Amino acid sequence: MKHILISGADGFIGSHLCEMLLQKGYKIRALSYYNSFNFWGNLEQSPFLKDIEVISADIRDSFLCEKITRGIDVIFHLAALIAIPYSYQAPQSYVDTNIKGTLNMLQAALKNGVSKFIHTSTSEVYGSACYVPIDEKHPLQPQSPYSASKIAADMMALSYYHSFELPLIIARPFNTYGPRQSARAIIPTIITQILSGAKELKLGDLSPTRDFNFVLDTCEALCAFLELEEYGEVFNIGSGNEISILELVSLLQKLLGTTITITQDKARIRPKNSEVLRLCCDSSKLQKYSLWQSKFSLEEGLQRSIEYCKENLHRYKSELYNV
Ligand SMILES: NC(=O)c1ccc[n+]([C@@H]2O[C@H](COP(=O)([O-])OP(=O)(O)OC[C@H]3O[C@@H](n4cnc5c(N)ncnc54)[C@H](O)[C@@H]3O)[C@@H](O)[C@H]2O)c1
Repeated sequence: MKHILISGADGFIGSHLCEMLLQKGYKIRALSYYNSFNFWGNLEQSPFLKDIEVISADIRDSFLCEKITRGIDVIFHLAALIAIPYSYQAPQSYVDTNIKGTLNMLQAALKNGVSKFIHTSTSEVYGSACYVPIDEKHPLQPQSPYSASKIAADMMALSYYHSFELPLIIARPFNTYGPRQSARAIIPTIITQILSGAKELKLGDLSPTRDFNFVLDTCEALCAFLELEEYGEVFNIGSGNEISILELVSLLQKLLGTTITITQDKARIRPKNSEVLRLCCDSSKLQKYSLWQSKFSLEEGLQRSIEYCKENLHRYKSELYNV
């Protein structure tokens, strides 16, 4: 039985990935971000918690990374700071976590002879699409400190493949959504404002388009990498469907049976050249090497997100702009 370490297991995608891999029969060590409350984030809610080995750590500490990767066969590296607006305020934290933290995990994997390292990138590295759908050859454009830090992390990861033959694959998900996502993301932001009975829906720019992929589809794609041996390669993960934020709001209003007015909140508008205007994924490379494809329709995935938000509304601070 393979022993898998998942960093960022306390997060949105990582917690679903833990559960999926556990159900597929793998032994899981889940890295949760250390805090003095011993709070394990989304894993706290997991019905599978008793079967998961949870360890609290911080990827910025190289000693700890070396220790927690001992005896591990495969690493899924998801831990990161991921909010774009917060990256305008605290770019140094993004360098420390996303770049240096990734370096620590790579070095630890190399030292401990890990047999596969799956590094999680993001579609944000592409910036506004120069062409659609976006394939892996699309130029990289660092339109935010977050994007820049992820580009650097991806390059560091690739350098470990080229320099040291670390068996490494880069997974590059486009926007992922679903239950447990934090309110900094657009879908929970819209749903929780509406469910809390807001009189107006406070949003930023409504014109950008995104490719939304349901979290279980993203996790199935990540699982597919366990079978791949295309080391040193990057693989996009997305639905291939493009929708504007305005169209998304209309769809969510329809699903929630409401029509509240939208107010553009200046604080939520990103600097002009930083806003990524268009993203739409070409996942044909991954489909060529695996049987993976997205299964959930956007409506189905949004319904599941709505159900989760209804049951967990108390966890969200919908009246605030959550960066
Ligand atoms: N959510 C998306 O739409 C999306 C899209 C593309 C790529 N990604 C990538 O997927 C990964 C997971 O994203 P997510 O949406 O689940 O985000 P998330 O914020 O829910 O999860 C990231 C986790 O990393 C942990 N973390 C942060 N700093 C840490 C540190 N120093 N040490 C240990 N753990 C630390 C946090 O506790 C958090 O739970 C990230 O690498 C992100 O860049 C996400």
